[in-house]
Amino acid sequence: MRERTLAILKPDCVRRKLVGKVLDRILEAGFEIVGMKLVQMTEAQAKQFYAVHRERPFYADLVRFMSSGRSVALVLEKENAVAAFRELIGATDPKEAAPGTIRREFAENKQENIVHGSDSEETAAKEIAFFFSEAELIANQLPE
Ligand code: RTP
Ligand code: MG
Repeated sequence: MRERTLAILKPDCVRRKLVGKVLDRILEAGFEIVGMKLVQMTEAQAKQFYAVHRERPFYADLVRFMSSGRSVALVLEKENAVAAFRELIGATDPKEAAPGTIRREFAENKQENIVHGSDSEETAAKEIAFFFSEAELIANQLPE
């Protein structure tokens, strides 16, 4: 089934000028970009976005990192996009990510791991709505 997922090219990806290379990998893997914007998450937004991790020891660092610079938010479409994108990015820790995955190739460590991907269809729907309005997602349809 054709599905949508939410990706974030994290602040390390933007700072290290890897946005073009990572986007190439995403497009080569057959994902269609249906939404894209440059964002600067506030601490409050980062807290809300990763609220599921609020009890975890890495939460404060994660919030600081995600609000430390610009990110690129993307809505991607493909067959089974949620699982397919998680496969393309690899495990959270780049040392554990499979060869050929984006995190294995580009990420420096478990926190600064280049990219976020939604972990279920339900989460994807919530995360897409966190960054994009419906109108923004159909903005690539030019008027006749
Ligand atoms: P994401 O949500 O960003 O796609 O990453 P994920 O599912 O692979 O991993 P998750 O467990 O959801 O963790 C969210 C993000 O928190 C940072 N993290 N740091 N230092 C640590 O032990 C640690 N663990 C997680 C990473 O930036 C991770 O992607
Ligand atoms: Mg996650």
